Formats: sequence, structure tokens, C-alpha cells
Amino acid sequence: MREPVIIKAVELITIGEPQPREEHYLALERGNILHFPRTPFALPEEDRDLLRSAGLSSSSHHKNIAYRPAEDKVTGFDPAAVSDPEKLRAAMRAYSERALAFLWKLLPRYMEKARIDFASFRPQEEEGRDLPVKKRNDLLHVDAFPTRPTRGDMILRLFTNIHPTKPRVWMTSDPMGALAPLYANDAGLSRAARHPKGSLTNRVFGAFDGAFGGVETKRSAYDRFMLGFHDYLKFNATYQDNCTKYRFDFPPDSTWVVFTDVVPHAVLSGQYALEQTVIVSRDSLAQRENAPIEILQRLCGQPLA
Ligand SMILES: [Fe+2]
Repeated sequence: MREPVIIKAVELITIGEPQPREEHYLALERGNILHFPRTPFALPEEDRDLLRSAGLSSSSHHKNIAYRPAEDKVTGFDPAAVSDPEKLRAAMRAYSERALAFLWKLLPRYMEKARIDFASFRPQEEEGRDLPVKKRNDLLHVDAFPTRPTRGDMILRLFTNIHPTKPRVWMTSDPMGALAPLYANDAGLSRAARHPKGSLTNRVFGAFDGAFGGVETKRSAYDRFMLGFHDYLKFNATYQDNCTKYRFDFPPDSTWVVFTDVVPHAVLSGQYALEQTVIVSRDSLAQRENAPIEILQRLCGQPLA
């Protein structure tokens, strides 16, 4: 296997015409962000207005309004704030379909094997939100989904800022290739590798966990490590304070694409972002050795999924 190129920076790569190019795949896998200063697909003003007026569910369980493409279903909105749920669903569906069609144009090799995950709308101002540490968006973290284990496949997300005037401000830091060698062991990588099926407690409770439908039993060692790593980074004040940081301001009506399990990211401010997630098979990467699971397996010398 080739040794990976370890990139110690996150770059914003601005793209005019979306065309499938080998360099785009490589840029993403190495932890860069593809940026489109104007959203490169139709998103009618009417839909933007409707979404911005849709409040957030009063239930604190939901951070976002979610759209599940496979079921054509919207969750997480406050029925009191949405006069016509059918219109909200149509707007989320339209965004999801166009975002996916655009990803097919830009990254067809990924899309051929990708699993379509959820889309979401983030209606709250991110600055000054009062959330528990694990849920804070303004602390650097890599993404891991508690309810949808990837077993080593990767989380690719496309975001669109639909605030009429304000940028969405992100902080990022050095990607997994540079991050994991510094922190993965301290975050419990060898423990995760030693217990490929999880701890006995996790397995017993996981098997009977009604809320998550026994998801613990579907988690690989990789999934468990990444869930822990998400929390570890958020709670690690030394990392948060001292790591190298790259700030990006995404202007109104811009769209960007990034592997959020490769690039540590935090949202400092901004309101009204749309997002579509796809799970990219690591078999379809330009360089498989860039996948976080491969980076971690090289570090611990054991299979993680
Ligand atoms: Fe995230």
C-alpha cells in the first residue's frame, strides 16, 4: 500500500464549473473543502423564505429539521411554527434532490456506490447557543453518527448557506492524517481495537436498546472509536486551545462540500444552513489510504471493521 500524503492544512478550493476531476476527489480525501461561491443549483427564493420562517421544534432532542429522502419524511419541526408541513416537505425534498443531482455531476465515482443519508436544515443562530459540551457545534470535532454506523465508510456533506446577508463562519483544523497520530491513542484507539465487538456492557445494553434499535450491535470498532473521538476532541481543552486553526467565512448563497469525518470543524456563527449527507464507500476513494479507518488501522496495526 502507498504511504499517504499527510496534509497539515485545510484549504478552500473555489470551483467555478462543476466537472468531475480527479483532483477534486483527492482534495476532499486529503481534507480540503470544495467551495462554490454561488450555489450551483436552483434553490428558489420562495423555498428559502419558507425554510427561514420554519421554526425549530421545541423539543430539545432535535438540533435540526431533518429530511429522510428514502421515506420522503421531515422530522424535528415545530408544528406550531409551520403552517403547511407539506410545503416544508416539498422544499426539503427539492433541496435534497438538487443537491444529490449536483453531487452526481461533481463526484460521480463516489455517488455510484454511495448510500444516501439524510438532509437537514439548521434554523438557529449558532453563535452563543447554550448546549451541553457533546452537542456544541462551536467546538472542533470530527463527525460520527450514533444511530447510523458507517463501518469505515465516510461522511461526505454538502452545505448551503441560505441566510440572506450573513456568512456562516467555520473553524477547521488539521485533518485526520495529521490529527490521528497525535491524539488517537490517548482517545482509546488500542482499547477499541482490542474489543472489536465492544465492551460486554455495551453489547448487553446495545442489544436491548429500543431507542436506537440495537444499533450498538451493528457498530464496528471503528464506529465506536469515532464516536468516542468526537467527544474526546470536544472535551480536550488543550486541543481546542492550541491546535492550528483555519477560519472560513462562507458567504450567503454559497455551497461547500467536505468529508466531515476527515476535517475537524466547528461552526462559530451563522444561521439557516441546508445540508445533504451521503455515505461514501471507501472502495470508491481515489486513494483508499486517505480514509480515516485506514489511517487508524495503520496506527494500531489491527482491523477496525
Ligand atoms: Fe459536525
